[in-house]
Amino acid sequence: MQFELTRLPVTDQPGGCVVAGVFASRALTPSAKLLDKATDGAISAAVKAGDIGGKPGDTLLLRGLSGIKAERVLLVGCGKAGELNEGAYQRIVAAAAAAVGRLHCADAALYLAELAVAGHDEAWRVRTAVAAADHALYRFTEYKREPGKQHLKTLAIGCGARQAKTLDAALRQGQAIAAGVTLARDLGNQPANVCTPSYLAEQAQALAKAHDLHIEVLEEAQMRELGMGALLAVAQGSRQPPKLIVLKHLRGKSKAAPLVLVGKGVTFDSGGISIKPGAGMDEMKFDMCGAASVLGTLKAAALLELPVNLIGVIPASENLPDGQAVKPGDIVKTMAGKTVEILNTDAEGRLLLCDALTYVERFKPDAVIDIATLTGACVVALGNHAHGLLGNDQKLIDALLAAGRTAHDRAWQLPLWDDYKEQLKSPFADLPNVAGREAGTITAAAFLAAFTEKLRWAHLDIAGTAWKSGKDKNSTGRPVGLLVQYLLDRVAG
Ligand code: BES
Ligand code: MN
Ligand code: ZN
Repeated sequence: MQFELTRLPVTDQPGGCVVAGVFASRALTPSAKLLDKATDGAISAAVKAGDIGGKPGDTLLLRGLSGIKAERVLLVGCGKAGELNEGAYQRIVAAAAAAVGRLHCADAALYLAELAVAGHDEAWRVRTAVAAADHALYRFTEYKREPGKQHLKTLAIGCGARQAKTLDAALRQGQAIAAGVTLARDLGNQPANVCTPSYLAEQAQALAKAHDLHIEVLEEAQMRELGMGALLAVAQGSRQPPKLIVLKHLRGKSKAAPLVLVGKGVTFDSGGISIKPGAGMDEMKFDMCGAASVLGTLKAAALLELPVNLIGVIPASENLPDGQAVKPGDIVKTMAGKTVEILNTDAEGRLLLCDALTYVERFKPDAVIDIATLTGACVVALGNHAHGLLGNDQKLIDALLAAGRTAHDRAWQLPLWDDYKEQLKSPFADLPNVAGREAGTITAAAFLAAFTEKLRWAHLDIAGTAWKSGKDKNSTGRPVGLLVQYLLDRVAG
């Protein structure tokens, strides 16, 4: 989607459709009031008649009004008058964008950035409107054309005339976030027969080429030389070779320690020999959404030319059963030198991540954030709303929590006390890869913590948030919003 800013009063805005808001109290937003005046009360008449209720997300289309330039007016419910929260604002914009997307209309203008949102300025409202509208208009149509294709080409965001530079920057930020989220969603939605470790590596190569990033892809032989026995154990049951993708966006001060993102890239997780039940197994194509979010975040950082040193690392593999596959009880040696007894081959994400986390020590990072669809237990604990967040540095965790609130891509911290680490005991090796049913998200993080003692580290478990199940099955692009916001916050100081 093409986005632009418009500073015309809504009554002078040409094009297919203008969008303005109505509160549940029947009060009109400033732009809706202007439209009402110019159209001789057509808006307030529709509201008074009860044609639109004003609940968040309600919409009403009016055509052929005289006195204004646009062909149509879309009214959208904005809920209670007064300040909105971040989630309500996003939902209102998304509902408006989705409704406009269903029209036979090439260009539209959204006058919703005038809504007050508690704790946020107009720049936030513009940036968030762009990201939310783009998200609502996203379709993955590579293999199935949708009946009635999308007509909307350009969406203008109505905004004030002041602070032109700041709002232009906000527009660019919104577009960069949208582009990063779209990349992450496209990669997530690709079926696993297309999206293999090699495909992820090719996509990373293409991203590097387009944005002048440095890239290196380590092959199996190099991983063996590095002693990545845990990562290789996951890959040994697959005919697809594993890849370790390393992408660098180095636009910070040359001596500034980098921020490193590590994304789980299991392109299909059957469970391996500890095979998963059949129902819903197709969703395990989404088990590379951590990797996808790293690529999406790098894309946004590159588009914005953010002055940061950012490194993305993706251990990519399939997890399949096979005559060569790793078996329950097998013991492997990690790059860190610790031995791991693999009691359950379905706990493969932590095996990839532990070697990748050891690998990134060489970058002497300022901080490391890993992003992984790691545990079903996280879906049980937090549902689809919040990422699980754990780590060994409270300042880093607090910054990520704050970025999640700002982007409305929220995380929730779980404890990582030493008490949990005691659950991780093996009679035969330094560590087992699983620790029983209780607190599965925490014990998975506790396993990773054994490999991050030298790092400032945080872990995002996105098992519940990276995609939607059911009839609207779709990757969400999360947590690209949180991560880009974290970068923006870092750059702002
Ligand atoms: N990729 C899964 C986690 C997952 C499951 C994400 C369901 C989203 C929905 C991960 O590799 C896995 O299988 N984890 C196991 C760990 C267990 C064996 C300790 C799980 O959560 O069941
Ligand atoms: Mn698994
Ligand atoms: Zn997995």
